[in-house]
Amino acid sequence: MALSTGKYGKFDPQNPTKDRITDIGPRHYWENFPPSIQKNYGKWLYHEILEPGVLVHVSETGDKVYTVRCGSPRLMTVQHVREICDIADKYCDGYVRFTTRNNIEFIVDSLEKVEALKKDLWSRKFVSGSYKFPIGGTGASITNIVHTQGYVHCHTPATDASSLVKAVMDDLFDYFTGMTLPAKVRVAVACCLNMCGAVHCSDIALLGIHRKPPIIDHEVIDQVCELPLVISSCPLGAISPDKTPEGRRTLKIKVERCMFCGNCYTMCPALPIADKEGDGVAILVGGKISNAVSEPKFSKVVVAYLPNNFPRFPEVVQTVKKIVEVYAADARKHERLGDWAERIGWEKFFEKTGIPFTEHLIDDYRLAYDTFRTSTQFKFTEAAWNVCKAAGGID
Ligand code: HEM
Ligand code: SF4
Ligand code: SF4
Repeated sequence: MALSTGKYGKFDPQNPTKDRITDIGPRHYWENFPPSIQKNYGKWLYHEILEPGVLVHVSETGDKVYTVRCGSPRLMTVQHVREICDIADKYCDGYVRFTTRNNIEFIVDSLEKVEALKKDLWSRKFVSGSYKFPIGGTGASITNIVHTQGYVHCHTPATDASSLVKAVMDDLFDYFTGMTLPAKVRVAVACCLNMCGAVHCSDIALLGIHRKPPIIDHEVIDQVCELPLVISSCPLGAISPDKTPEGRRTLKIKVERCMFCGNCYTMCPALPIADKEGDGVAILVGGKISNAVSEPKFSKVVVAYLPNNFPRFPEVVQTVKKIVEVYAADARKHERLGDWAERIGWEKFFEKTGIPFTEHLIDDYRLAYDTFRTSTQFKFTEAAWNVCKAAGGID
């Protein structure tokens, strides 16, 4: 495997172009592999889950590599990072890895080390009593919730990703440490519909949504914004040039076109979109990336809006818990949430979970040419419409 020849730090001011490197990206991934992974690279025969959170990978060389997986809060203190490094130094020769869902994985080469590591990890607690390194998140479980930046880093969030994840995960903790579900349930949070979190393909997705158009700050907009830039940022052409009564350059927004995406605020700080009453959380279910059993699916909106009830989001937590519990009791083994909902029918999904099917799930956006008058679950044909009318209550 070709490695970087290690020219870092050899800059010569007298001869600035000599050995100049233009590729200053991350180190080659090979350098970060533990020796046991380097040795068996490309030679893996199979892997098994020995117990929740503990995996063994078996190589054709006869080597067995054990992985202990722990939850992580993703947003962590420097002390916590140091503690992770200490554990990695003590048991794993200084190697540690993070999964895409922000789990921490410690890799060791014997079962004895697994036992010692497990004992150590379970013994570490925060002062409040909660586990610092809960072991689990494998197989038919709910693993760490992959989530986006939230208020901590991004400019367009409609919810606080970190506290939402904490609140939901606290209630689903037993599903993290056990493998008691019919199949894996992947939960994701994106704090706005730009969806860094790829929530459209998770079993349960929590999505921060804005419900009001941005408010234009006419006082400052012509000083902080290149107006043509923000006009062109709107995917719906809702923004156009305008003048204030005093004749200053500004913008206007055609509110009925706006879909509250926040793209304009990404471009222009004078168009804030965050709003205490307007912002909240939508819930989507049934997405998956896997090809097993059925083709990959997009998740579908089942709850159009729940309030941002900081900091513990009781409405969201209860709804997620209810969906998981009904699914756990009703689905067949190996059936993902979306497969289950499709088998029993989405009508039954709403019935069993007690989630009301409301008009907010039906697309009434007038520019939605293909999806107008449909929901992500149901398409209203003329025949269906006639049945509705015959049933009464509809003109
Ligand atoms: C006071 C005078 C000028 C101002 C304030 C100005 C301002 C700007 C700004 C704001 C951009 C956009 C940069 C970006 O966001 O990518 C730009 C791009 C550009 N300007 Fe000017 N400009 C001036 C004069 C000129 C002149 C005299 C020329 C050519 C003779 C010129 C040629 C360009 C070109 C070719 C680009 C595009 C560059 C790119 O996209 O890579 N500009 N200018
Ligand atoms: S999902 Fe939206 S608000 Fe959240 S981090 Fe990504 S762009 Fe920012
Ligand atoms: S929020 Fe989105 S749709 Fe609304 S004006 Fe801004 S860019 Fe356009």
